[in-house]
This record gives sequence, structure tokens and C-alpha cells, in this order.
Amino acid sequence: DASDAEKGTYPHYMLKEMDEQPGVVRKIIQQYTNDAGELIVDEAILTALKNADRLYIIAAGTSYHAGLVGKQYFEKLACIPVEVHISSEFGYNIPLLSEKPLFIFISQSGETADSRQVLVKVKKMGHPTLTITNVAGSTLSREADYTLLLHAGPEIAVASTKAYIAQLAVLAIAAYVTGKSKGNQIDFDLKTELAIAANAIQSIVDSKEELHKISKEYLETTRNAFFIGRNIDYYVSLEGALKLKEISYIQAEGFAGGELKHGTIALIEKGTPVFALVTQEPVALNIRGNVKEVVTRGANACVISMEGLDEHDDRLVIPKVHQLLTPMVSVVPLQFISYYAALDRGCDVDKPRNLAKSVTVE
Ligand code: G6P
Repeated sequence: DASDAEKGTYPHYMLKEMDEQPGVVRKIIQQYTNDAGELIVDEAILTALKNADRLYIIAAGTSYHAGLVGKQYFEKLACIPVEVHISSEFGYNIPLLSEKPLFIFISQSGETADSRQVLVKVKKMGHPTLTITNVAGSTLSREADYTLLLHAGPEIAVASTKAYIAQLAVLAIAAYVTGKSKGNQIDFDLKTELAIAANAIQSIVDSKEELHKISKEYLETTRNAFFIGRNIDYYVSLEGALKLKEISYIQAEGFAGGELKHGTIALIEKGTPVFALVTQEPVALNIRGNVKEVVTRGANACVISMEGLDEHDDRLVIPKVHQLLTPMVSVVPLQFISYYAALDRGCDVDKPRNLAKSVTVE
């Protein structure tokens, strides 16, 4: 049928969409660059961001995980405090707000009902709103004051991949441009760093056969799997676990490395797969300590580290990118590993049971 034709030679949309990721980053750089070659966002949006004393990021699922990373971007680059909330919780339990909040809705589809009910409520309260979405003209885009587009192209597979990468890139650009415009000290060129990240993503996409091997090695027979990281790697471990459970039905949990000892370590048995991310220099030793703790208890640890922080026994080393952009790169092997785990278990990769691409009921 027509939708199959769009897949071309790909067996699944998810595989096609993961392969498109380096191109998506390059497209975003292009779309957010002016004639003088500088990164920009729309003036009105920039003003709204600079006027806010606090940003409230509201989202669901994978978009929520992108929001957690976005908080780091806005706090580190733009020096604006940020709260990140799950849409379905926020609307029915609105916390005390700052004096000049700006609400940012992150939604691939722009149609998620949980997010929309928050938009409706905060608009009634008179607060400014910005939607970051892949779909121009979507409900959340039409109803918010401002929109930033992801330019990722249609995402068909239920498990979100390229939209997450696009959300990170657009959040980074918005935070960076705001910070620059406020005169904040920012000691790197984001455009260059995003281009480096696009190349790093490409090299991971090109190593998919190796990622299939890793998937077989760690996930072939397991019933559960854990993902650990610290700092920004923690947010990626949440997304890695979500990807795996969504499409392979393996029970997966992502959490902060330091929390292991406060509960989850009780679940580690001989052979339990634990994926550990090591991309953040300040916490590299701490997370390696956590890996030792699980290995001592029999875990089958798969360390994914970044060049420069790598050690001899690491299972995968990803190319070096800017410290803030590591999620765009480290998530990619986790996406592929999940894809192959689902494929090898005979699961319906693009249309997992019980899930919908966009959920239009609360
Ligand atoms: C659904 C999808 C998820 C997605 C979430 C939020 O649950 O299955 O993949 O992350 O909705 O969707 P949105 O379009 O708002 O980003």
C-alpha cells in the first residue's frame, strides 16, 4: 500500500527514521541559521524567553524525556530556571507558579490530549505559551502563542526516535540563542558542535550490525533490563528504558546510578543486563563505581562510554561530542538495540501492542 511505498526498501519505519537522524540535525541547523550564518530563533519567541523568570516545560512520554535535557540547556546556557512536568499530572495539580512563567509544550504530534488540557488551563490563567512540535498546524501549535518547528519530517513509527533528536537540537538552539542574546558567557559555537554531533550520529547509524550483536548478547533471553546514568546520562537512560519496553516488551527501568543502592540493586541477579552510560566527565568515576557494584552481584553490564572517557572493557565507545550534546548521540545505540531486540522477538516494531502514536484522550 501507499504507506509501504514510503518506507522504500526499509522493513520498518522505525529503522528508516533512525537512519534519518543525522540528516534531521543538519536540516535543523539550516532552518535555524540566518543569512549571516548565525543561529537564530524568531524575535517574538526570543523576547518571550528573555521576559520569563521561569520556564515550565510540559510534555508526555519521549517528549518529556527531551524536556529533562532541555532544562539543562536553558539553565546552563540561558540562565533561566526551568521546571519539567508530565502533562497528565500538571493539569490536575498545578504547583505554585513564578511571577512571569513561560509555558513550553513539547509534543512531536502536537495533538496529545494530556498536554492540551494544560495549555487550555494556563492560557485561561493568562500565561504565554510556546509549542515545540513536528507538525505545523497541529492543535498545540495553533492554540499556543508561539511555535518552534522540529523539521524532522513525518514520524510514523510509534516509538519516537528522530523527533527526540530534533527536540534536543531545537531546545539547544533556543537556549543558546537566548543565552547569547542576554550576553551570557558561552564558550563554544553550537552550530559547529551540532554538526559534529550529526557526524557522530551517522557513525553510530553506520555501526548498526554491531548494535544488533550487542542486542543479541544482552537481551536475547532476558525478561528485564536496566539503564543507568548520572546527570544528563540519567535522562537518556530513562529514554533508553522507555524505547526498550515500548517495542520489545522487555521490562525495563532507567534510573540514576546513585539510586541503585536505594532499592533497585535488590533486583540484580546473575546475568541481569545493565546498560550504563558514561559520557559526563564529572561523574564518570561515580557511574563506573555503580557498574562495579552491579557486576559484583552478577549483572551483565554493557558500558557505553564516550571517547576520552573510555576504558578497555567498555562494550561500545561513541565519538566525542560537546558535553551538553551527548544525549543526541548516546540515545542512538539504545534505539537500535531496542529495535533489534523487538525484531528478534518477532514483535510488531512499528505498531507495538496497546500503544498509539498520538494519544488524543486524557
Ligand atoms: C504517545 C507515543 C509516545 C510519545 C507520547 C507523546 O504515548 O506513543 O511515543 O512520546 O505519546 O507524544 P507527543 O506527540 O506529544 O510528543
